[in-house]
Amino acid sequence: MTDSTIENLLHEERRFAPPNSFKSQANLNDPRIYERGKDPEKFWAEQAENFEWFEKWNQVLDWNPPWAKWFVGGKLNITVNCLDRHLKTWRRNKAAFIWEGEPGDQRVLTYGDLHREVCRLANGLKNLGVQKGDRVTIYLGMIPELPIAMLACARIGAAHSVVFGGFSPDSLRERINDSQSKVVITADGGWRGGKIIPLKHNVDEALPGCPSVKSVVVVRRIGHAGPGKIKEGRDFWWHDLIDEVSSKCEPEVMDSEDLLYILYTSGTTGKPKGIAHTTAGYLVGTAMSHKWIFDIKDEDVYWCTADIGWVTGHSYIVYGPLANGTTGVMYEGAPAYPEKDRFWEMIEKYSVSIFYTAPTAIRTFMRWGSEHIEKHDLSSLRLLGSVGEPINPEAWIWYHENIGKGSCPIVDTWWQTETGMILISPLPGITTTKPGSATFPLPGIEPDVVDESGKSVPLGSGGYLVLRAPWPSMLRTIYGDPERYREVYWSKFPGLYFTGDGCKRDEDGYYWLLGRVDDIMLVAGHNISTTEVESALVDHHDVAEAAVVGKTHDVKGQAIDAFVTLKLSIKATEALRQELREHVAKKIGALARPDEIYFTAELPKTRSGKIMRRLLRDIAEGQTLGDVSTLADPSVIESLKAQYEEGGA
Ligand code: PRX
Repeated sequence: MTDSTIENLLHEERRFAPPNSFKSQANLNDPRIYERGKDPEKFWAEQAENFEWFEKWNQVLDWNPPWAKWFVGGKLNITVNCLDRHLKTWRRNKAAFIWEGEPGDQRVLTYGDLHREVCRLANGLKNLGVQKGDRVTIYLGMIPELPIAMLACARIGAAHSVVFGGFSPDSLRERINDSQSKVVITADGGWRGGKIIPLKHNVDEALPGCPSVKSVVVVRRIGHAGPGKIKEGRDFWWHDLIDEVSSKCEPEVMDSEDLLYILYTSGTTGKPKGIAHTTAGYLVGTAMSHKWIFDIKDEDVYWCTADIGWVTGHSYIVYGPLANGTTGVMYEGAPAYPEKDRFWEMIEKYSVSIFYTAPTAIRTFMRWGSEHIEKHDLSSLRLLGSVGEPINPEAWIWYHENIGKGSCPIVDTWWQTETGMILISPLPGITTTKPGSATFPLPGIEPDVVDESGKSVPLGSGGYLVLRAPWPSMLRTIYGDPERYREVYWSKFPGLYFTGDGCKRDEDGYYWLLGRVDDIMLVAGHNISTTEVESALVDHHDVAEAAVVGKTHDVKGQAIDAFVTLKLSIKATEALRQELREHVAKKIGALARPDEIYFTAELPKTRSGKIMRRLLRDIAEGQTLGDVSTLADPSVIESLKAQYEEGGA
């Protein structure tokens, strides 16, 4: 990040203390909680007492860096904590999910209903031969069957691997093969922006290269208009599979450290990393952080707008909220469908009290204008959240004034797929917020900002964000590749977990996240690696070489720019530019489609042949170029600059 961006982040001077009315009712309003967090093992063990165990742990933490085990020897099942526990109380008939499909259909599932559906599918999966220790890939849109499928896997001890429905067949195949899944759960389609996402069709395209998959379970979402065809012997309709099974299924006894799920995230080398989360620590971390940060009360209606295909949905739509017995709103489709007021209409309709979304969405709403918001009564809201990338102070203030009407605290929550839970965030009944800062680490969490040599930098300086101590819901490994786990997270600063993020702590100790310092881009809050997009471009028969950079974008945070060298005989045309953009979308998914493609006879390289991305980034950002003295052929950069100034033509 450049100095001017940091300046921009820091220019808002207003401070926002928790309103007294909020503070007096808050789950946490005593700052001494931070003191208690100073003995993390004791602190986390106290939190773990809030859950139901078949057998308690005999050791809180076994830390053999970089290998962590939490609640060693404990036995539990996460679905007992998310479901069965509530059935013994009045929550049996409390709504767990209030779901709305994009076309306007609705479903409410109480905790009792959810328990029943989870048990039925769990029995259905058993009938397909799924056993404890197996992996199941779930490729679904935002329909209730998605959390049901995840919980059904957890019920019987199979690990789920949810693949976001926007990923292409190639990306899906890569993830199925990496996890060696036995079963894929999908739907005949999903609704998004009035169009059908051909989920089953994509599975059919992916599967010929996936020998581990024995069966496919298909939810009927679209009906007979859906493009997916049922393949005899391999494919089973969900409703047939659960038709005659029992609605009771004994929970598998899981060890604290048994694998709960794998979730893939982009890696700098291009190959996605299967982030592995285990059972007990993940439950404790997500449930407690959810309760504290979102100040969850029984009467709240909580809406996290993320897709469950990302970690935010795993931790803060499914596991954290259900463990707390929360009523959650779930929405299938696009925010602009059928009109740009869909979210506000839903907040009014369901009296949503806690709303958690991403800066990229907030900036989109800002652009759409306040008339869509003013049509609706948002007075039920009492707390707002943000996640996925740094939130610029303008967007923060806009969110505060237009959605929160000046009275809702905002929690800007920093975390990662790898961290499993939020690690840096305000506690809304305690923390005075500064717009643009995620404020402070949660109690029991020990981050630091360090320089290149791993030394802590003084307040007021910037550096790399690291974690000095393990936390319960941390990733345990990269699935099937422990060496890569050590290399990616624990080798830059031995003994410290490296987040890959830049960060500054101001004079008051507030944390200001400054974006990635590696080759991961954050496009609309989604991680995409430059290498991944480069490989997709080079995969096209006309492309000789490609370099990809992320550039600042008003709405998406970052957008993808690609610099492409074509094979000698190929002519650069507008049609080819479009074809390449589509090629990337087809290879990876629409989220990775480059905004701009610049054709160039050569890429700027050092004399040793390394592509100088820094220069490309400067070109993409329209900035004056820094030092070009190490460049092998400086004229390359001049012609690229000229092209950029012509508007990418
Ligand atoms: O760069 C940080 C950014 O998102 C990255 C993690 O992405 P992912 O694993 O996809 O998880 C996203 C949802 C947790 C981080 O390394 N990031 C996430 N939240 C914030 C953030 N950057 C600044 N402020 C945040 N609140």
